Formats: sequence, structure tokens, C-alpha cells
Amino acid sequence: MKRVALLISGGGSNMLRLVQDMTGDHPARPVLVASNDPGAAGLARAAALGIPTAAVDHRAFPRDRAGFEAALIEPLLAAEPDIICLAGFMRILTPAFVTRFAGRMLNIHPSLLPKYPGLDTHARALAAGDAEAGATVHLVTPELDAGPILGQARVPVLPGDTPAMLAARVLVQEHRLYPAVLRRFAAGDRTPVTLC
Ligand code: GAR
Repeated sequence: MKRVALLISGGGSNMLRLVQDMTGDHPARPVLVASNDPGAAGLARAAALGIPTAAVDHRAFPRDRAGFEAALIEPLLAAEPDIICLAGFMRILTPAFVTRFAGRMLNIHPSLLPKYPGLDTHARALAAGDAEAGATVHLVTPELDAGPILGQARVPVLPGDTPAMLAARVLVQEHRLYPAVLRRFAAGDRTPVTLC
């Protein structure tokens, strides 16, 4: 059984979907939900499900990314995860941190990578006049949002879409995509998942 730690920054809806899926014959179980924000709503949701939680407030480490990561890695290593899922984790991790978990850290990003790494993905897709948008799950490598792709889900861009409307439509697919990818990945299968 693979041990999965999940890193979140906000509501944690993707984290919840992953946790809900990790039951029965699933090859993994959640062992920790950690956040850079002690107020992240997802922490309380995870705790209510009986999952151990940890918070390391990044604001306590101004201009000290290495210090923040040294604090974050403590509960993470204590949980002995085989896999780390970034699920709406909004801090950029240093190459040193990423390299430590090379090949076993996943991220979900709300665009069809390699399009639109970084922030404001939906506004950028709309501004470009794209006909479709979507989400990508990928392995985390030192270069931002550029690791090997493990799965993608696509949605149409509709007339009159705002970034918020598009984000909501993509999020529905994120909730299908990430659990499908994690199931496959935890079973040792890295064949990309394609949803449409
Ligand atoms: C999701 O849309 C996820 O793709 C995005 O943040 C949202 C978190 O929602 N992640 C990123 O933008 C990472 N760069 P959630 O907290 O409800 O899962």
C-alpha cells in the first residue's frame, strides 16, 4: 500500500476527491495533509476525515524559501510518504526540495500544459481565443509546470465564458482526472490518462 501526502493551500477540493478515492482496492492511502496556510479550509476538512494534518505558515519565513521548506519537510518526512500530491499548493518549491522527491511528486495544473504554466491560466486561455481549455497532472520537476505529463482533461471554451466560469468547468474535470491519475500512478503505471 502506497502512502500519500497531500499539500494544499486553500479549499482542497482536489485533495478531498483524492482522499475519497483512496479506499477499498485503491493501491494508496492518505497519511498527511499539509498546508502553507494554517487557515486553509482543506485542513479542517482533512482533519474531520481523521487524516493527520500539518501547517507551516510561509509568512513566518519572509524571503526565506529554504527556511520554509526546511520546516515543511519535517512533518512530511515523518509521514514517510511514497507519493506527494500537490493539490492546489500555491508556493513554488525550490529545485532542492523538488529533487529530493524526484519521480514521486505530482501536481495538478489548470491548463493544457505546455500551454500556460504559472498563474491566471483561464484568463490567458480566453485572451488567446482558445477553443478548449483543461487541466494537466504532471510529475514535478525543478522547472515550473514542465514535468512529464501523466494525464489531461479537456473542456470546451463556451461563448461568454469568464475566467471564473471556465475555472469552474475545468475544476469539475480536475476532480475526475487527478483521482484517475493517482490510482494508475500508485499502481506503478505511468501511462498518461486522457479524459474528454
Ligand atoms: C485547482 O484548480 C488547481 O488546479 C489549482 O488551484 C486550484 C485548487 O483548488 N492549482 C494551481 O493553480 C497550481 N498552480 P482546490 O484547493 O479546490 O483543489
